[in-house]
Amino acid sequence: MILEGRFWHPQRGLTDGCVAIGDDGTIKRVAKTISGAKERVRGMLLPAGLDMHVHFRDPGFPHKEDWASGSTAAACGGITAVVDMPNTQPPTDSPAAFADKARRAATASVVDFGLGVSARPGISRETWFDELPAAFWKLYPYGISWEDYQSTATEVTAAGGHPLVIHGEHPSHIAPGPPRELAEHTAHRQLAEAECLAGMPASPQLHVAHLSTADGLAGLPVGATAEVCPHHLLLNLDACDSLECKVDPPLRTPRDNAALWSGFRDGRIAVLASDHAPHLPEEKASGAPPSGIPGVETMLPLMLQQVVTGNLELGRLVNAMAEAPADRLGLSRGRIARGQPADLIEVDTKATRPVVLERLHSRAGWTPYEGWDAIFPQRVWRRGELVAADGEPQASRGGQPLFTAQP
Ligand code: DOR
Ligand code: ZN
Repeated sequence: MILEGRFWHPQRGLTDGCVAIGDDGTIKRVAKTISGAKERVRGMLLPAGLDMHVHFRDPGFPHKEDWASGSTAAACGGITAVVDMPNTQPPTDSPAAFADKARRAATASVVDFGLGVSARPGISRETWFDELPAAFWKLYPYGISWEDYQSTATEVTAAGGHPLVIHGEHPSHIAPGPPRELAEHTAHRQLAEAECLAGMPASPQLHVAHLSTADGLAGLPVGATAEVCPHHLLLNLDACDSLECKVDPPLRTPRDNAALWSGFRDGRIAVLASDHAPHLPEEKASGAPPSGIPGVETMLPLMLQQVVTGNLELGRLVNAMAEAPADRLGLSRGRIARGQPADLIEVDTKATRPVVLERLHSRAGWTPYEGWDAIFPQRVWRRGELVAADGEPQASRGGQPLFTAQP
């Protein structure tokens, strides 16, 4: 297949030309002209997204999401590769649990996938520490003391190998008790992010998930990388005051939004990730809802709309959604260039339409973005195969692991 039109060239930016895709699903050639039958691109061709932070809930909670529903939502929103977090049931914390989840994903996922593996004290001494083809280690702050949280972060980052992704809040810095309203949830953890990050090792192995505050950004450990989620850029306590929007880290203030935008625009926060955290609508509507906001399908559409309104440069979005997460995870992908997987989205910047819950594919069944302007990709290719068109799935299954064991 040869696609012809405007595309995002990793060095030159928007460029007119042709992209030839081989039967093996990789990009064979990128040139001004290529002979042969061509298909015209409407709008522009961009690298598809790699979302390095999703919760697809399988095994354990498939009624909230499973690999089929989560990956379909991802594909329809222009994401062709995800990394799933280990807080499933059982947790992904051993080679056996890893193999089980990888098998589920390989059976049902339409997008390519990596798996985060739960870190714990002493994990670097496990015989499989250097061999397990994890995307990264993920350290959760629950059920572990602050001292152990710190020492485990130091242990794992010093051991090398996979990056360590941390949740940048620890319960020891959070006021206890269930919140009666959303603002109280936020108030309980006012300084938690800054206090947690101040105690984390300065290491290029460290990656801070879902950065949410101006103070956290100012206090990022030296050498660490970070990600930001659409809800911490676009939402705050003024925009959403229902407990439904309870999420960890919580929604904050417009001042925090502005600081995160600034860090995101200038690349201090390199990566855009959704932290797609589906829970059922009845759970979210209850008086004591679990934390989490779904977002894998709306992330790129909402951010493409930010590009159209002039809030964000297109090149910065391409970097944050495709290039930077690939580089952070040591993957050769995310660029429209020879040899890369043909993971592409066709985007028409004139095709703004509102987010409509009925047209989304997550089992979450709710979104805080109902009615928001967005630009859904017209077509989405995963390794050269059309997997979504006009926000609807065109394929099922076929996802492959992003990381495999070294022989
Ligand atoms: O809001 C959140 N939801 N934060 C987390 O860290 C976990 C996530 C989930 O799994 O629901
Ligand atoms: Zn998460």
